[in-house]
Amino acid sequence: MLKGLHVIEPGNLTVQDIDEICSLAEQIIVDPVAFNDVCRGKILATLFFEPSTRTRLSFEAAMLRLGGSVLGFADASYSSSTKGETLADTIRTVSSYVDVIAMRNPKEGSALVASQYSAVPVINAGDGGHHHPTQTLTDLLTIRSLKGGFEGHTIGFCGDLKFGRTVHSLCKAMSRYKNNKFVFINPPELSIPRYITEQVLKPAGIETREVLRLEEVIGDLDILYMTRVQAERFFNEQDYIRLKDSYILDKEKMKLAKDSMIVLHPLPRVNEISPSVDQDPRAAYFKQVKYGMYARMALIAKLTGAL
Ligand code: NCD
Repeated sequence: MLKGLHVIEPGNLTVQDIDEICSLAEQIIVDPVAFNDVCRGKILATLFFEPSTRTRLSFEAAMLRLGGSVLGFADASYSSSTKGETLADTIRTVSSYVDVIAMRNPKEGSALVASQYSAVPVINAGDGGHHHPTQTLTDLLTIRSLKGGFEGHTIGFCGDLKFGRTVHSLCKAMSRYKNNKFVFINPPELSIPRYITEQVLKPAGIETREVLRLEEVIGDLDILYMTRVQAERFFNEQDYIRLKDSYILDKEKMKLAKDSMIVLHPLPRVNEISPSVDQDPRAAYFKQVKYGMYARMALIAKLTGAL
């Protein structure tokens, strides 16, 4: 039962919930018009305290395509948080106007706090360097659609695995399925956080490996998950400048990969995937954008109890 649930991190959804959401998203993809009206009369608030293009707009497009309405802000400098209002009070207020809230905030843990004060479901659209569960639904729907399921994959996570919340959430979700292997490709300064290794990967018995060079492992991968170095989370600009171009996926590296490998990226990309890779049939990051909207349509319909 997904109605009324807060989605703060992937662990809030069971594997059955994920199947239910992906199956509904697949039905919507086949016949979107049939779902045009299911959220008629319902309102989504998008509260974005941090920049976003895809996540906010895909949430809004999702609700509009379900026949519902949206309100909110894309820039918190116009909200009462600049007057010193607490997040708790903002959420108490907004949740008395709407049926579901999608919130992005730079502070880790903020979505959990919001859920404690909300009368309606809160969806975490990214809390600092912590989690981003709807990007994970996007990634899962893409993987299920293009690779046929969630088991038996060798997945390479490349780039900023320390601050990349999409990586943390996808690791947590994929570690629940059988026979997956994770390869972490990162500079030592940007390793996956210990809490993910200790609390998620080890208990799940996931086989992991950490390497420095993408060329060394790209040929073993079924899924390559590229990420941007998260400039906004660095304490020191010099470190960012030194690390930002650690990995650039180009045509030469793609020659070393399997024909069946897919390349995912939550986007925005900066330099880490050369535009020359975009034409490669294995480049799936723009398809992934579209899957994101359908995944969010399915999630909103379920959480609001519309379907
Ligand atoms: C990601 C995010 O915000 O964490 N983008 C997104 O939501 N699609 C990845 C990123 O900003 O690098």
